[in-house]
Amino acid sequence: GEAAAQNSRLGFKQVAANTLDDITLPDGYSSHVVIRWGDPMFSGVAEFDHATRGNGESQAGAYGDNIDGMALFELGDASVLVNNNEYTNRKIIWGNRPEGKSETDDDVLKGMMAHGVSVIEIAKGDNGWALVKDSKYNRRITPQTEMEITGPAAGHALMQTEADPAGKLTKGTWNNCGNGRTPWGTYLACEENFNGYFSSSNPDIERTDAQKRYGVNVEDWGYGWAQIDDRFDIAKHPNESNRAGWVVEIDPSDPTSTPKKRTALGRFKHENAEVVVNGDGRIVVYMGDDERGEFLYRFISDGVYAEGADNSDLLAEGTLYAAKFHPDGTGQWLALTPETTGMASAAEVVINARTAGSKVGATTMDRPEWVAANPKKAEIYCALTNNKNRAIKPNAGGDPTPAMGPNPRAENHYGQIVRWWPSGGNHTSDSFTWDLFALAGNPTVHQDAYGGSVNINEGNMFNSPDGLFFDTKGLLWIQTDGNYSNEEDFAGHGNNQMLVGDPATGEIKRFLVGPKECEVTGAAMSSDGKTLFVGIQHPGERGDSHWPEGGDSVPRSAVIAVTRDDGGQLG
Ligand code: FEO
Ligand code: CA
Ligand code: CA
Ligand code: CA
Repeated sequence: GEAAAQNSRLGFKQVAANTLDDITLPDGYSSHVVIRWGDPMFSGVAEFDHATRGNGESQAGAYGDNIDGMALFELGDASVLVNNNEYTNRKIIWGNRPEGKSETDDDVLKGMMAHGVSVIEIAKGDNGWALVKDSKYNRRITPQTEMEITGPAAGHALMQTEADPAGKLTKGTWNNCGNGRTPWGTYLACEENFNGYFSSSNPDIERTDAQKRYGVNVEDWGYGWAQIDDRFDIAKHPNESNRAGWVVEIDPSDPTSTPKKRTALGRFKHENAEVVVNGDGRIVVYMGDDERGEFLYRFISDGVYAEGADNSDLLAEGTLYAAKFHPDGTGQWLALTPETTGMASAAEVVINARTAGSKVGATTMDRPEWVAANPKKAEIYCALTNNKNRAIKPNAGGDPTPAMGPNPRAENHYGQIVRWWPSGGNHTSDSFTWDLFALAGNPTVHQDAYGGSVNINEGNMFNSPDGLFFDTKGLLWIQTDGNYSNEEDFAGHGNNQMLVGDPATGEIKRFLVGPKECEVTGAAMSSDGKTLFVGIQHPGERGDSHWPEGGDSVPRSAVIAVTRDDGGQLG
C-alpha cells in the first residue's frame, strides 16, 4: 500500500514483465550499448561482419562472446572494464554455416577465440560510455594465454602434462562464468563448465571416477577444440582437464602480467568468488559449485590483508571448507584437508574438491550460483537457481539430494535465495545461522507454498535467480537465468530480468527486463553510483532475437550502461 511505498528504499517504479526484444527500464532511466561480441578492440581488426560473423583472426582481436561476470577498475583517469566471455552459441557464431556447425579449423578457432576474458578501457563521451580502441589496457585473454599454476596443486603429478612436465604452467581459461574482485585490485575469473570442451579420440576409453564426477567425457559439447589442439583429447592428455575448473587471478592494470590459477580455492564448476576481508585481516572467499547436488564452499587465507603491503599472493595458501546446513536454521563449515577427508594430499583435496566435500558430508544444494556479501553487515547471500530433476536421477556424485533445509522443494522449477550470518559476525567462524530470503515462484499459478515466499507476488515474480551483487547502499541486485517461455509455471514471468531486493524488509522490485531469449548476468557500478553496467548474454539463443541492432541482424551479447535521466544515483 501507500505506507509501504513511502517507506521503501527502492526509489523507482517497478517495470512490468514482458517479452519484448528490447531493454525495459523504469521511468526516468535509460540505457545504451557499450560493447558487443565481435567489436574490434584494436586498429587493424575487421569490424564485425554479420554475414560471416568473423573468423579466427578477427575474433582474437575483438571483444569475446556471451558476457558474464564483470568488474570495473578505476585506475587513475582510466575506467577499465573486465568481462568474462563465458561461451558461444554454436548456431549463432557458426550461423553462417548451413547446419550451424563448424566446417573448418578456422571456424573452431573463431569459437575458441570468442572465449576467455576481455579487458577494455572505456570512456564517457557525448554518446555515453564507449570503448577506447587501442588503449594500453586492452587485452584479450583466451584459451591459449599462458598462465601460472599456484597453490597446493602446483607441481602435483595429476597436474603434469607432456607440454608441462613440471605441472606449473598451463594455457588459457574458458567457460568463465561469474567473477570476483580483490581489495588489492585484481580480477577473479571463475572457470565453470570446463568439461564440455574435452573429448576422446578413443571412444572406448575407460573414464576415471574423477572424470565422471566432473563430467569430462568422450564427446565434447560441440565446440570441437580437440580438432585443432590435442590437449583437449583426454585419450592423449588425461591430466589436461585437471588444469581447468579453477579461479584465475588477473591484474587488469598490467596487460603483460601472467594470470594465476589459484588452486587453493578448489576445483569445481565455479560460479563466482565473493571476496570479504575478515575483521582480523584474513581473506575469506565464498564460492558456489553450479551443478545439481553439489556444494557451497569457503576459502580462508593463511595470510592477512594490509593496505599498502604486498597482498598479491594471499590467494595462494589457505584452507578450503564446504557447507553443511541443518534444518533447524544452523550450519557449519567443514574443513577439507587430508585429515578430515582421508585423501592422500592437500593437492588431491583441491583437485578433487567435490570428492572431498562428499567425504565430509557437506549439504547437496539446488545448484549454487552467485554469492554476494552485504557490505553493511556480516551477511551472505547465495542464489540456488533451481533443481528440475531432483527425484528423477542421482547427481553426479551419487550423494543423496533430499528436499530439506535451504533446498525445501522436491520439485523446484523456480529456485530460491539463501542467506546466512557467521557466528559473532566473524567470517572465519565455523558456525552460522541461515534462512531463506526468497523462494521464487508463481502465486498466480500455484496458490500453495510452491507459489513462492510472501515477498513474491504477481507484480515481481521471476524464476531461476543467478547473478547477485550488492551496491554500496546495501541493496541486493538479483539477475535471472531461467525459463522465459512465459507459459504454464512461468506464465507472467516474461523474459529474463534484473530485480532489486532490500535485505532489511524483504521487499523485491523488478528493475530491468532483458531482450528475447537472453540471460541477464554480470554487473558493475561506477564508484559514483551513477552508472550500472549490465551484461546481456545469449540474446536469441533459440533463434528469435535481433537485439541489439534490430532488423535481420545477428543477435549479439553486449554490455549496456544504465543511467538515470536526471544524472542521479541508481537504485
Ligand atoms: Fe554460468 Fe552457473 O552459470
Ligand atoms: Ca550464472
Ligand atoms: Ca544459471
Ligand atoms: Ca549462461
